[in-house]
Amino acid sequence: MACILGVGNATLDIINTVAGYPTEDAEIRAVAQRVCLGGNVANTLTVLAGVHQCYWAGTWADEADGQRICNALQHAGIDLGYSRKLGLGKSPTSYVCLNQRNGSRTIVHYRDLPELSLSDFQHIDLNAFAWIHFEGRNVPNVRRMLELVKERHPSLPVSLEIEKPRAAIESLFALPDVLLFSRHFAEHQGYRTAADLLCAIAPLAPQAQLYCAWGDQGAYARSPQQTTVLHVPAYPPAQWVDTLGAGDTFNAAIIHGHLQGKKPPEIVLAACRLAGQKCGQMGLPVLSA
Ligand code: FRU
Repeated sequence: MACILGVGNATLDIINTVAGYPTEDAEIRAVAQRVCLGGNVANTLTVLAGVHQCYWAGTWADEADGQRICNALQHAGIDLGYSRKLGLGKSPTSYVCLNQRNGSRTIVHYRDLPELSLSDFQHIDLNAFAWIHFEGRNVPNVRRMLELVKERHPSLPVSLEIEKPRAAIESLFALPDVLLFSRHFAEHQGYRTAADLLCAIAPLAPQAQLYCAWGDQGAYARSPQQTTVLHVPAYPPAQWVDTLGAGDTFNAAIIHGHLQGKKPPEIVLAACRLAGQKCGQMGLPVLSA
């Protein structure tokens, strides 16, 4: 069991399960509704909280949804001591259309909330942590946070998720120990395969272990100083039930594998397995000892 700090988003997910994806301007009934905690970092911490002591550093608005998010984080066993309540704005909410036919999730996200500030982060005593995981957002501030960790705690391992393209996000690549890319990011940058992305990123992040999950085609890894890209096929579920948070689950398994001292081939295999398991079930899996 390790202490892990996650820096990023916690959201309220309002998930409507639908029998089939609607056409524009249609009115349809959901077959089920679930309101739960979401957000990439919150999801990753939820999975990890089964075996690790997890702490969330992020912002929430002092209104009903913010309170629900906090309750859900606490229920998942995640410590909120480093979170910041803001007396303005609106906590992030996601309206999710979950297609029962294939598990696809379509997300409409709304937020109106400042991100965690550098000064909030500076006040966290990082001595207790064995791992810090960042969501790739809030780029100028996260850059300073990553630099701070590297200056003050050079041996503390840091992972960074790169899920969405954001201005100057490549300025973060040279700092973390582990970089976790999404297929969405790769394709947006014009790469047709994960191997192309990882080979292009490697010179910008020579220090980092690189991973990229590619949906039903599995995942890819590239280690520092190696020219080859490792591929592990996906573990598709018997039935695709719910893909919401599959990438966040994959990331949690990667962090867990590194904390266990495993090597990338074994780590990425376990991550594909857990992500596959997640797609066959409603909600997130929680790691067990
Ligand atoms: C899934 C997720 C949802 C959340 C959305 C935020 O990866 O974290 O839980 O609503 O993405 O972008």
